[in-house]
Amino acid sequence: MVDLSLQVFGATFQNPILLASGTCGYGQEYSGVIDVDALGGIVTKAVTPKRRRGNLPTRITETPAGMINSIGLANVGLEGFKREKLPWIQENLRSAQVLVNVAGWTVEDFVGVVEGLNEEVGFLGYEINVSCPNVKGGTLFGTDEKALAVLVKALRESTSRPLIIKLTPNVPDIGVFAEICEANGADGLSTINTFPGMVIDVDTRRAVIGNETGGVSGPAILPMGVYATRVAATRVDLPVIGIGGVRNAKDALQYLLAGASLIQIGTAMFVDPFTAPEVVAGISEFCEKHGVGEISELIGALEA
Ligand code: SIN
Repeated sequence: MVDLSLQVFGATFQNPILLASGTCGYGQEYSGVIDVDALGGIVTKAVTPKRRRGNLPTRITETPAGMINSIGLANVGLEGFKREKLPWIQENLRSAQVLVNVAGWTVEDFVGVVEGLNEEVGFLGYEINVSCPNVKGGTLFGTDEKALAVLVKALRESTSRPLIIKLTPNVPDIGVFAEICEANGADGLSTINTFPGMVIDVDTRRAVIGNETGGVSGPAILPMGVYATRVAATRVDLPVIGIGGVRNAKDALQYLLAGASLIQIGTAMFVDPFTAPEVVAGISEFCEKHGVGEISELIGALEA
C-alpha cells in the first residue's frame, strides 16, 4: 500500500477517508465489522446540549440513487456523550482521528457543547453542524450570513481545537458562506450536508417520511458535492472535507482533485460496510498505478 497519510488541522490522518456524521454512530457501532481505527477517522453523530429522541418514524427510506433521512438529531446529549460514548472512543480509536459533530439552535447551545468537551481527551476537533434540514432552525446559521459570522466568531473564542463548519448546499453561493467561516476563524469546512427532499406514497397519498421532508444523500448528490467542494476550495484557503455520494475510490478521487483534503463516506456504508476500507485500498492502488508518491499531490490537482 502507498502511504496515504497527510497532515490536516495540525494532525496526522493515516488516510483521507472518514465516516460521515450520522452514519457511524460513535464508531463503536462498526467495531467487529471493520477496523474503524484503520480509517482516517470518524465524525460522530451530532451532540446537542441535551439528549434528543429525534423525529417520528419513518425516518429513512430509499430514493432513486440514494436515500432520504429525517432523524431529527436524535442523540445522547453532551453529558450522555461524555459518559456513554467518549470512553469507547478514547479506548479504541488511537490512530483514527475523531471529530465531534456539534448541533444546536442558539450560539449558546453550540458554545456550551464545545466548552463542555474542551477538557476531554480522545478527539481532535469539532464539526459544527449548521446544515441539518430536518429540524426547525437546523439550517438557520448555515443560511444566514450574519448569524454564521456571529456563531463562528463565538466558537473560535471558545476553543483552540480545530473548528470545521459543515455547510448546507441549500444556498445560492456556498463560496460566500465558506468565506464567512474563514474570515471568522474556522479551521476547515465540510461540504456538503444533505439536500432537502420529499418522497410521497401515491397509494396512501402521504409523505413516506414521518416528518414529511428529509435530507437526500447518496450517489445522486455526488456531482453536487464535488461542485460545492470545488467552489469552497477555490474561494478559501482552508482544508475542505468533501462529502456526498462516495461509493468507490474514483468518487473519492474526484473530491481530492476538486480540492478536498479529506473525504467522508456515509450512505454507501449502509449498503456495504466494507466500502470505506475498500476506498482506502482503491486510492492506494490508483496512486501506485499513476506514480503518485504522496496523496497531497492530488489535492486540487484538477486540470483547468
Ligand atoms: C438528522 O439528524 O436529521 C440528520 C443530521 C443532519 O442532516 O445534519
